[in-house]
Amino acid sequence: MPLRDRKVIVTGGPTVEPLDPVRFISNRSTGKMGKAIADAAHLKAREIVFIHGPVHESLLENVPYRTVGIESTVEMLDAVISELRPDCVLIMAAAPADYRPVKKSSVKIKKSEEELILRLVKNPDILMTVAEIRRKNSALRNMFLVGFAAETDNIENYALGKLAEKDLDVICVNDVGRHDAGFGVDTNIVTIFSRWGDRLELPLLSKKDTASRIIDCVEEGIMKKTDKLLP
Ligand code: CTP
Repeated sequence: MPLRDRKVIVTGGPTVEPLDPVRFISNRSTGKMGKAIADAAHLKAREIVFIHGPVHESLLENVPYRTVGIESTVEMLDAVISELRPDCVLIMAAAPADYRPVKKSSVKIKKSEEELILRLVKNPDILMTVAEIRRKNSALRNMFLVGFAAETDNIENYALGKLAEKDLDVICVNDVGRHDAGFGVDTNIVTIFSRWGDRLELPLLSKKDTASRIIDCVEEGIMKKTDKLLP
């Protein structure tokens, strides 16, 4: 089924994991890349939903598709699962927090101790959970999964490792070691790898142009996957 007939679920931004009513653990993701991908997908796909963590409200002004705001990684997982359909493409551009505090204090933590030790527990991996759902449910086998990776070194090795480990169709790798790529800035340098052995190294581009090249690759990948599934 081509991209124009598909639903695209894009995630973007950080997630936040509360420590107490006023403090949280999070990361530097701004949601710009995810939003650019949702915009690019909107030009080509049947339906878009953008599931995002806390982002600047200006990012979501006049968005012409559905948006769903969440806070924590578990909430993002639940939101993604509730949107899954047999025809969907999931593009995980978000930076979900990998760990959350073992428990959230119901009252503000006071600075009474000289040293404060935080105990964290691993969050579920959204892509791995969805890939497992796809493996176990033959009605969902045509879902197309796209991951991102933010790396500073050994880019190709880590990318191919995550592609295999998370059972993805495509992975887009940001070189976050560079000041003009990755978090917060408007440009990016991405290399795209597919499970069919394709490798496309994009130059320094605006996030808008990077997003439209990624959507082109997803469109090609969907056709390749469909061809392979045909008898
Ligand atoms: N991701 C996810 N669920 C998480 C964490 C990450 O689905 N709990 C997704 C991200 O949205 C991204 C991909 O996994 O598409 C890779 O994220 P990245 O942070 O680069 O890698 P991790 O798997 O978290 O591994 P590490 O931080 O050790 O590099």
